[in-house]
Amino acid sequence: MDTDARWLDELEQRAREVLPASVLEYVLQGARESVTAGEATAGWRAVRFRPRVLHDVTHVETGVSLLGQPVAVPWGVAPSTLQRAVHPEGELAMARACAEAGSLMVVSSNAGTPFAEIGATGVDWWVQAYLPADRTLAEPMLERAVAAGARAVVLTVDTPVVATKYASPGIPAVWDTVDPAMLRVNFDAGYDEQPGAEKALDLGPHDIGWVAARTGLPVVVKGVLRAEDAVRCVQAGAGAVWVSNHGGRQLDRTAATSSCLPEVVGAVGERAEVYVDGGLRHGLDVLAALALGARAVFLGRSPLLALLDGADGVARLHRELRVQTVEALRLAGCRTASEAPGLAAAPRPTPL
Ligand SMILES: Cc1cc2nc3c(=O)[nH]c(=O)nc-3n(C[C@H](O)[C@H](O)[C@H](O)COP(=O)(O)O)c2cc1C
Repeated sequence: MDTDARWLDELEQRAREVLPASVLEYVLQGARESVTAGEATAGWRAVRFRPRVLHDVTHVETGVSLLGQPVAVPWGVAPSTLQRAVHPEGELAMARACAEAGSLMVVSSNAGTPFAEIGATGVDWWVQAYLPADRTLAEPMLERAVAAGARAVVLTVDTPVVATKYASPGIPAVWDTVDPAMLRVNFDAGYDEQPGAEKALDLGPHDIGWVAARTGLPVVVKGVLRAEDAVRCVQAGAGAVWVSNHGGRQLDRTAATSSCLPEVVGAVGERAEVYVDGGLRHGLDVLAALALGARAVFLGRSPLLALLDGADGVARLHRELRVQTVEALRLAGCRTASEAPGLAAAPRPTPL
């Protein structure tokens, strides 16, 4: 099989050629000076392995269980807004490719495709939510997700406000160019105009219990970078914590997730699942994250870029990653993802 890590770089190049400038900027941008966005991948590349040898690696199994459900690969697609601006089939193409690969898809609450249509593809999916100041305004969206078969709610907690991104000269903001029908179709009509629809500034651990009670689903808290916050999440009933700095799109100069992951795993890894995202591009990055104790990883920009070629592009991304990850596991002397912890020393924290 053709497996070429440079394919993703080529995709980014092609995206620069074919995507409308505003959409391209939206996908690739980081907050402020993009310090955090720029350091993410280097953090994974800084991890060094000490492979095990004299282990039979004839059969390598990539499957893991996430919140009690089996998935075929230890990576999923992270939630991202405006998938239909990258490809007309948007979330549906993403879902079909994930279903084929046996990979979990996390659907943004901002999605431009009805949850029921996404669920009908047969994909294993979770819904992501931001909570508004008036929590009750989120209920209809959450109810639609439950009805359409979402298996968990990913509560994003790193966005009390949307961080400032600098526009390139001459490029209009994406929000002024895209069809509003590509956004938030799973909310009630007029949602954004209602008082209390702005993002909550007062999120607390009790919101985890509120979401769990409203939906009857496990809650995954996305955007946790510190041990004590991870402990608060788990004490409040979270089923998993997701180490993320939002792809460097929120507080710029936030530490790389590769350097925060070991602390969070150390604090709650025995009681809850820990996931990570940010800058993971290659099977070797997946191995690095598993080695540092992540149960699974999530990918944001890579599948969005792969979506340029619709479901075929995302399917190819899954295939490439699978081949790379199996090779990495085999070379590291691991038959399963669960044998990866301990293979690596934690990378040094992001230099100050
Ligand atoms: C274009 C774009 C849109 C995003 N939209 C959302 C969103 O709606 N909700 C959310 O929780 N995270 C969102 N994220 C953050 C991703 O879920 C994820 O945390 C991040 O992209 C991971 O880093 P990576 O892009 O380097 O893989 C978005 C990221 C991108 C690139």
